[in-house]
Amino acid sequence: MCGIVGILSSEPAAAQVIEALKRLEYRGYDSSGVASLGEGGQIERLRAEGKLKNLAAKLSGHPLFGHSAIGHTRWATHGKPTEDNAHPHATERVAVVHNGIIENFRELRNELIAEGVVFKSETDTEVALHLVDRALQRSGDPIKAVQESLPKLRGAFALAFLFSGHQDLLIGARQGAPLAVGYGENEMYLGSDALALAPFTDMVSYLEEGDWVVLHRKGGVFHDRTNAVVQRTVQKSGAGAYLIDKGNHRHFMAKEIAEQPEVVGRTLAHYLDLGAGKVHLPVALPFDWKSLQRITITACGTASYAGQIAKYWFEALARIPVEVDVASEFRYREAPLEKNGLAIFISQSGETADTLAGLRYAKSQGQHILSVVNVTTSSIARESDVVIPTLAGPEIGVASTKAFTCQLTALACLAIAAASARGTLKAGEEEALVNDLIATPGLMVEALKLESHIEHVAHDMAKATDVLYLGRGTSYPLALEGALKLKEISYIHAEAYAAGELKHGPIALIDETLPVIVIAPHDAIYEKTVSNMQEVAARGGRIVLISDHQGMQGAGLEPAAKIEMPDMNPRFAAIAYSVPIQLLAYHTAVALGKDVDQPRNLAKSVTVE
Ligand code: AGP
Repeated sequence: MCGIVGILSSEPAAAQVIEALKRLEYRGYDSSGVASLGEGGQIERLRAEGKLKNLAAKLSGHPLFGHSAIGHTRWATHGKPTEDNAHPHATERVAVVHNGIIENFRELRNELIAEGVVFKSETDTEVALHLVDRALQRSGDPIKAVQESLPKLRGAFALAFLFSGHQDLLIGARQGAPLAVGYGENEMYLGSDALALAPFTDMVSYLEEGDWVVLHRKGGVFHDRTNAVVQRTVQKSGAGAYLIDKGNHRHFMAKEIAEQPEVVGRTLAHYLDLGAGKVHLPVALPFDWKSLQRITITACGTASYAGQIAKYWFEALARIPVEVDVASEFRYREAPLEKNGLAIFISQSGETADTLAGLRYAKSQGQHILSVVNVTTSSIARESDVVIPTLAGPEIGVASTKAFTCQLTALACLAIAAASARGTLKAGEEEALVNDLIATPGLMVEALKLESHIEHVAHDMAKATDVLYLGRGTSYPLALEGALKLKEISYIHAEAYAAGELKHGPIALIDETLPVIVIAPHDAIYEKTVSNMQEVAARGGRIVLISDHQGMQGAGLEPAAKIEMPDMNPRFAAIAYSVPIQLLAYHTAVALGKDVDQPRNLAKSVTVE
């Protein structure tokens, strides 16, 4: 993911920007840049491929003296890591830096080109630049120009703008990717996180979802998504340890749920050529998808449910049979495996003992070992033939959230790659599937907006002693994950069933004391789930329906509670639908006063059998 910085300083700001960007190097990047306002207020810009030292070298050869500046470390998503694609992007009137993905960039780009705009880069960022630039040309007012342009952008991103002739103005915006404001002595700062601002201040405010902020050296004016002026708490940041700091969240789990649009976007960018609308795996595979007879997937807990969801994708898209098993069983059942088969291991920590043992068994059976891990220096990664990193960043909460959705994201890209290689996709289908994935971070932003409603539902759920989760298709393993999330942090007994299994026994559980969480985006088998819901309702079961508008309309009953998700293609809906089940578990546990980040009896990584 990229890093952005902005500084309204009392001295030349460019070197300060580079100092701040150094603290964002942990995010990974492949180019960088800085823009500041010269003597006459004109925008002056330096950009460089590669590491920050290349930018610093350029700056020493061509000093920038402006006291207002923005800077960026770019992690290429749209367009190659070239200087032309490096941020800041600028016209003579405005410069911008951006982190995240603007998912509707192509339609905006076409509209702007039709209006005569000439694009100089392949980036999605430039559409934000030209929208603001054209609005600025019309109104002459930078604040109005940004306010008018933001609603046109969809996706998960953070932005910072600098305007020629406006030495005492910076504007920042947040939609799905974090942005912090720092307070100095007659200086103000913007940064992707508090760590970037640590060289200047530890007094920070965090923009909330949909916020935008107007900064002058005297302070900042925060606006929410309705443009109303709002107050944002100024707090002392644990910037030095920001990476393991809760930011403005009560728990790490809450922070990690909120980070999902950004880290899912980052993971997508790693495996997709967003501009071409195709999968682009950054690693050579030592096997040929076409020759595979079967894939085995092995993992534990939440990771195993990611594997179960991926089974549907590999089988439906790539027509490869997939067998999923929990590692504690796989490692001992002497599974017969065809030589040169593909064995996939999924693990956030990369240290889970059962999963590692399963990997070693598969290796002994001549399998190609591919691991989907969040810690690329882990034992599982080191013993794999191919490592597919989930770029979720450190996951501190014991209950896995962002790692799970990044696992799903990486597995979805693998399934599309397999299908493309095996020729099982129709013309244009790969691009359509990739577009569905590109839309996912923005859909997760929308899902996060449901949090206060979900918190209300959770307060009711906190009174239950048992909860049942139901789902069909990929919503079935997601129901398993939802039940695990709830039980592991709230200690309420919960279990999940394939909705079609209800009548084969679990329906005996149904009565008015039992909340039944039904996960059901409106898809081809939705009507089947409606029948199951009616069976539940007929016995007084209290249904919490998680669906989209069409699903709510077609439920044929009035659930006890509804969580209405944005419309989306059901194929990869499990990724965005993870957000409500995570929030439901989180707020139930909080309502019960549980130790959400460190639940009893659990460890973050089970390195023993
Ligand atoms: C997830 O919420 C659980 N804490 C647990 O099931 C976890 O997913 C499992 O232990 C596997 O861990 P890993 O992904 O690090 O291998």
